[in-house]
Amino acid sequence: MSSNVRPETMERITNKALAEVFIENQVKEIREQVGDKKVLLALSGGVDSSVVAALLIKAIGKQLVCVHVNHGLMRKGESEQVIEVFGKELDANLIYVDATDRFLDLLTDVSEPEKKRKIIGGEFIKVFDEEASKLEGISFLAQGTIYPDILESDGVKAHHNVGGLPEDMQFELVEPVKLLFKDEVRVVGETLGLPHDMVYRQPFPGPGLGVRCLGAITRDRLHALREADAILREEFDKNGLAGKVWQYFVAVPDFKSVGVRDGKRYEGWAAIIRAVNTTDAMTATIEEIPYPLIHHITDRITHEVDGINRVMVDVTPKPVGTIEFE
Ligand code: XMP
Repeated sequence: MSSNVRPETMERITNKALAEVFIENQVKEIREQVGDKKVLLALSGGVDSSVVAALLIKAIGKQLVCVHVNHGLMRKGESEQVIEVFGKELDANLIYVDATDRFLDLLTDVSEPEKKRKIIGGEFIKVFDEEASKLEGISFLAQGTIYPDILESDGVKAHHNVGGLPEDMQFELVEPVKLLFKDEVRVVGETLGLPHDMVYRQPFPGPGLGVRCLGAITRDRLHALREADAILREEFDKNGLAGKVWQYFVAVPDFKSVGVRDGKRYEGWAAIIRAVNTTDAMTATIEEIPYPLIHHITDRITHEVDGINRVMVDVTPKPVGTIEFE
């Protein structure tokens, strides 16, 4: 599939039967392209790279080398799921790099959002490059480019995504889902047997929790954010909102307010809940979370998460707010 133009006759992949035909064709094409050579893939655990990984594992098995870089800014359980699904269940050739300390050390005292993004993106490339240079005999680089990436940014995978890779890497590209739209990638992923929550997950920015731990990131506040966010996600899942709301998350600002706990003054951070709906992320409206659920989530976060003593709900649409805070 070398052309970057989706043929007008290409049928939209809306069900498993169509996905199976696509998968069969891709497996054949990938085998033809790659032969007995090795392919490298940066596997973030997001929808696109996960589906590409699953397709390539089906086509060429251990000739695919997946590198998962944990930058320490993943949501709770995400890296563990990558290891479980790809390392164990699919028995992939998976290199797991826990680079948490490298990223968090570099981010110490950095509060400017674009600087944070630059550091995270730059360090990601460095870590990935280092891992790639330890490997021998790699001829191809697989990427989770999808059709909107081609339409919107001249084929460059999500220009501001941390998944961006070194431009000087001299590999031939393998991009098996580059003519598919997101909904089609999801159907293909599910047909390949990937977990539903992995394939239907909400969008997550490349810099991860780094742009939701507002201001200069500290390890204790990042931990509190991760735990609070996990509670929000769990409650949205239990209450049927997870598949319905486009994006929902917690942000934790870098100031404390006074509260009381067990009859004592207790200073803590605030967890801000944001849940939005959109079709293209250019504008967004607010999901009206039922108040009883807000009360329940507040109760859980303030009791279960160390360091948080207040919960707020952000009801600002985009515009005038952006979806993320930074
Ligand atoms: P904003 O905050 O600009 O977000 O309204 C629009 C969409 O883009 C995502 N986003 C990012 N994604 N790297 C990414 O890969 C980033 O640096 C980044 N910043 C925002 C955001 O989560 C939302 O879906």
